[in-house]
Amino acid sequence: SGSSGTAIINLDIEGPVISRHLYGHFAEHLGRCVYGGLWVGEDSPIPHEGGIRLDVVEALRALDIPNLRWPGGCFADEYHWKDGTGPRELRPRMVNTHWGNVEENNHFGTHEFLALCELLGAEPYISGNVGSGTVQEMSEWVEYLTRDGDSPMVRLRGENGRDEPWRVRFWGLGNETWGCGGNMRAEYYADLARQYATYCRDHGDNRLYRIAAGAADDNYAWTETLMRQISCFGCEATPKNFFQALSVHYYTLTGPWDAKGSATEFDTGDYYRTMAAAARMDRIIQGHSTVMDAYDPGRRVGLVVDEWGTWFDVEPGTNPGFLYQQNTLRDALVASVHFDIFHRHAERLAMANLAQTVNVLQAVLLTDGDRLVRTPTYHVFEMNKGHQDATSLPVHLALSGAQRQVGDAELTTISASASVRDEQVLVSLTNLDAERPAEITLDARGGALLDPTARILTADRLQDHNTADASPVTARPFDGVRTHERGLALTLPPHSFVTVRGRRA
Ligand code: AHR
Repeated sequence: SGSSGTAIINLDIEGPVISRHLYGHFAEHLGRCVYGGLWVGEDSPIPHEGGIRLDVVEALRALDIPNLRWPGGCFADEYHWKDGTGPRELRPRMVNTHWGNVEENNHFGTHEFLALCELLGAEPYISGNVGSGTVQEMSEWVEYLTRDGDSPMVRLRGENGRDEPWRVRFWGLGNETWGCGGNMRAEYYADLARQYATYCRDHGDNRLYRIAAGAADDNYAWTETLMRQISCFGCEATPKNFFQALSVHYYTLTGPWDAKGSATEFDTGDYYRTMAAAARMDRIIQGHSTVMDAYDPGRRVGLVVDEWGTWFDVEPGTNPGFLYQQNTLRDALVASVHFDIFHRHAERLAMANLAQTVNVLQAVLLTDGDRLVRTPTYHVFEMNKGHQDATSLPVHLALSGAQRQVGDAELTTISASASVRDEQVLVSLTNLDAERPAEITLDARGGALLDPTARILTADRLQDHNTADASPVTARPFDGVRTHERGLALTLPPHSFVTVRGRRA
C-alpha cells in the first residue's frame, strides 16, 4: 500500500500573491543556449525573426514566460556590452573562458536580447559586469537602454537603429561575486554593490530593481553582510535601499561536484537523493529569509533565486563546458517540488529563474538541429502557469506513510500548493514515491471547489525523457478525481505530478 492523507485547503484564507516572476528563466552565453538555442542568425534555414528562433519563441510564449535573465551567469562578469552592439560583422570577438573556451562572436547582443524579450512578451533581467567591468560601463549600459531624449548613450543607441528607450527594471549587480564573479569577500562586494547601485540611475520613469549578487546555498553570513550594508545604519535617518533585492543560487545535485551522476541513468537511491536535495531549497530560502527579517522586518527587500535547477554530468560525447544534459521525469518532479516551496515563500520571494532556458542544465527546451523538444520540466511550467500572479491559498498536509529517510534527511513524499486567480483555484500535487500510489483527500474548507478538472504528468519510468523522435513525458488529462464528502479525492500514481482546477464557490 502507498501513502495517504488529507490536503486541507482553506479557500477563504488568502495568503500573499505569487509573483509571476517566480516562473522566470535564465539564458546565458553558455554552450548551445544562446547560439543554436535562441539565436540561429539571419541566414539560417530554421524559421526565425531577425535571427531569433521562432519555434522556441512559440514554445516559451505558451508558458507565459515572465522574465528572462541574461547574459549570465559567470559569463556576465566578463561581458562588455558595447562589443555586442553595432553592425554584427564589425563586432569584436572574445573568448568565453568560463564555458568551453570557445570564441564568442557577439552576434547576439543588447538589441537582439531586447528583441527576443519583445517577441516573448517577457521582461528583461540584465546581469551587469562587476567582476571585470567598470562602474562607468554599467552606468552607460543603463543609460543606453532606458534613457529618453538626448544624451551620448541615447545618440549611440540611435546610431545602432533604436530611437525609443526600452523598459528595463530588473538589474543584477554582478553574479556569484564570491566565485566566478571576482572571488570577493562579502564585505568588499557589499561596498561595490553600493557603489555600482549608486551609478545605475533611474532614467525618466524607468525605476530600476537592483539585485545584489547573493549567496550560494546556505551561506547565510553572505546575506547577513549584504543586509547589514544595505541598511546603512548611522548614515541616514531611515535605512536607505541601495539595492531592492539580493539573490541566492542553489542547484540540486545528486552527488559531489566531481561525480554528479547521469541525467538519465540512475537508480531509485539516486532518485531519492535528488529529491532530498531538491527539498533542501525550502530550508535555504527559510534561512536567508530569517536573516533578512532581522534587518528588514517589513520585507521590502526581495529575495531572488536567480539560478536553480538540477545539475548532472553532461551527456556523453558533448563538450564538458557546455553543460548539456537530458531531462527526465525526475527533473520534472524536482521542478514541481520547487514551485510548491516558492509558493510557500511568496511573501519574501520576488523572483526565481530556472537554469537554463534551452540546451543547458535543467532546460525546458532542447534543440536538435531544426527540431525542438519540450522536456518534462517544460510541462510542469505549463501546468502550473495559473499560479502566476495568483493569490496563494495555504495547504496543510496531514499524511501517513509519506516519510522516508534519505541519508541524513527526512523526505516527505507528498508535496502540494494552491492558489486562486479570478475565482479559479489551481492545486498542484506531487507524489514523489517511486513505487507507491498516494490516496489524497482534498478537504476544501471555507467554500467549495466546483467543476474540477485535472491533468497529470507521469511516465512508466522515472528515467523516461523526451527526444526529437518521441515524447512519452507530456501533460495529459487525468480523470481520477472523485467527489468526496469533504471535497474531492484522488489517487496520485507513483512518481506523478497532478494539477486540479476548480471554481471557488
Ligand atoms: O548556470 C551555470 C552557472 O552556474 C552560472 O554561470 C553560474 O552563475 C553558476 O555557477
